[in-house]
Amino acid sequence: MAGEDRRGAVARFALPLGSVRTDVVIGRALLRSVPELFADYRGGRLILIADTTVGPLYAEPLCSLLAQAGYDARILLFPAGEDSKSMDTVVRLCADCCALGVDRDDTVVAMGGGVVGDVAGMVAGMYMRGINFIQIPTSLVGMVTAAVGGKVGVNLGHHKNMIGLFKHPLLVVVDVDTLATLPTDEVRSGLGELITVGVLGAPAIFTVIESDGPRDLQELIEAALRCKGRFVVADPEDRHGIRAQLNLGHTFGHALEKLSGFQVPHGFAVAIGLHLACRLAAGMGILPVATADRVHRVLIALDLPVTVPAYGAERIVEAMRGDKKRRQGRLRLVLPRALGEVIVVDENDVPTGLLLETLTAWGAEIRPGRPPGRSGQ
Ligand SMILES: NC(=O)c1ccc[n+]([C@@H]2O[C@H](COP(=O)([O-])OP(=O)(O)OC[C@H]3O[C@@H](n4cnc5c(N)ncnc54)[C@H](O)[C@@H]3O)[C@@H](O)[C@H]2O)c1
Repeated sequence: MAGEDRRGAVARFALPLGSVRTDVVIGRALLRSVPELFADYRGGRLILIADTTVGPLYAEPLCSLLAQAGYDARILLFPAGEDSKSMDTVVRLCADCCALGVDRDDTVVAMGGGVVGDVAGMVAGMYMRGINFIQIPTSLVGMVTAAVGGKVGVNLGHHKNMIGLFKHPLLVVVDVDTLATLPTDEVRSGLGELITVGVLGAPAIFTVIESDGPRDLQELIEAALRCKGRFVVADPEDRHGIRAQLNLGHTFGHALEKLSGFQVPHGFAVAIGLHLACRLAAGMGILPVATADRVHRVLIALDLPVTVPAYGAERIVEAMRGDKKRRQGRLRLVLPRALGEVIVVDENDVPTGLLLETLTAWGAEIRPGRPPGRSGQ
């Protein structure tokens, strides 16, 4: 990876992506250094886009800090939650940019979780055919995966991420201290993504969490971003199928999110999907059962769900077929072969009935008041 530089507790690296480059900075108490960090990217005005939770917590104080440092910074907010991940929100924010006279020299700064990154990325990619884009993720899902890689998108009704584009950020600033205010369930959701990245390409993440738990989050986030970065650098716009490997757990996960009406948090759905992918791979003889058992144990230790909500195996497969990663109407599944190694298979490669059997074998009842499919069953 180009441009490596470790200074004190702050990690920096750059992802060369053809005609563009994403610089990544990870550390603690970084928000107060944002005016200096932005100096190299100074264009025109800064349009901070945040949701109604992160706005008052972090975006408003950051806007004041930037103003004190001589930046012209404005904030645009939208209601927190997956329901806001729609073209309606994107169009409204573009109209706000238009009313403010935002032009092509200006920069959209996404500050928040994965939803804000996706929505703000769409604004940055579409407004005036694209303006500068910076990401400051504040959720663990955002830090571990969403902020890097340039995929931004919104849902079309219940169709997850069906409208989207590539908009690589120029800069990603990860201040791990912002996790202090993240609700516990959101931290667990991020751990679902983190462990999945470990299984698909960074086994050290898995083994560290397996032996010590998620103690040093800064180090684990850096390892996850470096791992994702390798796939993204190899295939910046997902043209060669390399990035498909990053979808481990996600085809199952997106189907469960969709069937729950987006009530199951993203990382929970991915955790269930990771476990199912391991069990399916074990059933096919691709992955040792003992490795699937290890993944199962770690997910439970992190208090993540492992069992499938009672939507019915056929409905889940039908919802998986609606995933945009299908090819010629057939499912493509990412399956682990070992810790840190996955393969992508066509559904024709999966023995008839095994997918349905796996979904049924790991099914669970939905219990009111608990996230569907939570641990232990
Ligand atoms: N584009 C990508 O590559 C990519 C990758 C993974 C996930 N995603 C998308 O990201 C979304 C999930 O992201 P998410 O889990 O961050 O959800 P989210 O953005 O809805 O954030 C979860 C909640 O946490 C709040 N929050 C965020 N940071 C906070 C903080 N520091 N303190 C207090 N509250 C905070 C948010 O306001 C929100 O209420 C999904 O829509 C998923 O599809 C995108």
